Amino acid sequence: MADLDKLRSQRWLARRDFRSHMHGSRIMQMGYDRKDWEGKPVIAILNSWSEFNPCHMHFRQRVDDVKRGVLQTGGFPLEMPTISLNDSLVKPSALLYRNMLAMEVEEMIRCYPVDGVVLMGGCDKTGPAMLLGATSAGVPAIFLPAGPMLRGNSRGKTLGSGSDGFKYWDDRRAGLITEEQWGGIMSGIARGPGTCMTMGTASTMAAIAEALGMALPGASSIPAVDASHQRMSAEAGRRIVEMVHGDVRPATIQTRQAFLNAITVAMAMGCSTNAIVHVIAQARRAGHAIGLEEFDRISREVPVIANIRPNGTSAYLMEDLYYAGGLPALMKRLEHHLHLDQMTVSGKTLAENIAGAEVYNDDVIRALDNPVYAEGSLAVLRGNLAPDGCVIKPSAMDSKFLQYRGPAVVFDDYPSLKKELDNEETTLTADHVIVLRNVGPKGAPGMPEWGMIPIPTKLLKQGVRDMLRISDARMSGTSYGACVLHVAPESHVGGNLALLRTGDIVSVDVARRSIAVEVSDEELARRRARWVSPPQRFERGYGRMFVEHILQADQGCDLDFLLTAEGSPAGEPDI
Ligand code: FES
Repeated sequence: MADLDKLRSQRWLARRDFRSHMHGSRIMQMGYDRKDWEGKPVIAILNSWSEFNPCHMHFRQRVDDVKRGVLQTGGFPLEMPTISLNDSLVKPSALLYRNMLAMEVEEMIRCYPVDGVVLMGGCDKTGPAMLLGATSAGVPAIFLPAGPMLRGNSRGKTLGSGSDGFKYWDDRRAGLITEEQWGGIMSGIARGPGTCMTMGTASTMAAIAEALGMALPGASSIPAVDASHQRMSAEAGRRIVEMVHGDVRPATIQTRQAFLNAITVAMAMGCSTNAIVHVIAQARRAGHAIGLEEFDRISREVPVIANIRPNGTSAYLMEDLYYAGGLPALMKRLEHHLHLDQMTVSGKTLAENIAGAEVYNDDVIRALDNPVYAEGSLAVLRGNLAPDGCVIKPSAMDSKFLQYRGPAVVFDDYPSLKKELDNEETTLTADHVIVLRNVGPKGAPGMPEWGMIPIPTKLLKQGVRDMLRISDARMSGTSYGACVLHVAPESHVGGNLALLRTGDIVSVDVARRSIAVEVSDEELARRRARWVSPPQRFERGYGRMFVEHILQADQGCDLDFLLTAEGSPAGEPDI
């Protein structure tokens, strides 16, 4: 049991001086009495509910379940709204604002009388952002994932977020479905509260939070509308109070081994490529030098066993993973790859969390010797086109591109690319390698999810469904195809991608982990001498701060001044 006098909030509320008197009067202004807070841990429930974020629409009610848990355990809960980032609606990219939310979380914890936090997030960047902020703030924290939506449905067909939108949009452009059918997909693909129910970034990052030990066992796969989600929320409220008493901080849980567990689980899940930038950033905030090497090494060791779209050929979605036993069952299958002695927010080790877990459907959670894909879902490629690395997702692409060589067609911006994709007279063929540049962390800025470059309409009508595509952008976790992403350094800062010309031959060899442009070093040097840096976007405000301080994709896209090495976590304010 923590010494209550040592609680951070007591510095604001427990003294018998003028300032404490004033602070108490402001708490009483909300109708609370002294017995509501005196001698109790103050728990901030950071809620990213917003009417602009349908993935979090149930958080408005769910916060009451968290409060119930906090009150049952003798804490004093106060809800704290945060900005909310809906990955579909925020433009040009929610990643642009991930670090803004992370800063908000860190600073709000720092400046208010907070002893512990429940982080209510889920839609793609919100979870990583909140965990980044809480990691730097350093107070006890527990992540409460929003939970996936139920399966989509239209005309009796199951629909998966993003993946089926992309698939049927290709069919629409190829003239294979009617306007009415297309309208049915719009109304049926997102049927209620929760995050994308494919193995997109939201599902990936929730699973990573659980594997890391920062979310309760099983929390990441519970559908948003399931009553279990309410019970899990109340349990999160109970646990955070106990964690404050036990002084269990993120640094206790987020060890290097815990991050390796998280990467292992991500690979077995067939994770979103976005996991890379978020995990690297968070590990670095926690003080661990984890980079692309760890992802590639673990990818070679761990097969994809979650048979969830967009991996594999099944129609299974997160709802099916939940019924199959959820993440604890998947981790049970992986136990020989995991560091089981790691402590988690449940107050138990990972081994204890998964001790009784069972798989109820062997086609959804495959056995290790019957995987969806024999290696992990991601591969890190390097070569003269990406000296600092880039990423491809072999588990969700046509295998003929695992080793490929073809002529590049280069586009400097999205509008000119789009015009050519829609051009019925285009000279692009299925053999070409489509390249989009200036869409990286600084160039776009914010590295939008434009990396799954659409197949040209003319080729779609010929039945082409995959091509090799290369960019310094990201792609949605719900996307698929032979898309080389996160090319680092990006073209905007003078990476070799900026020197590529239409007609250059590009080669990719996933087994060798290589990517190259077949142009001599001397010719690249000549081109570099003539290269002119493009103008910076965003002249003012947060966007300007972002482009002046953003790190490259292989370093997690954090802001350089937020790195832990830049200063100690959350210095205490003078009160
Ligand atoms: Fe919110 Fe996909 S748009 S999780």
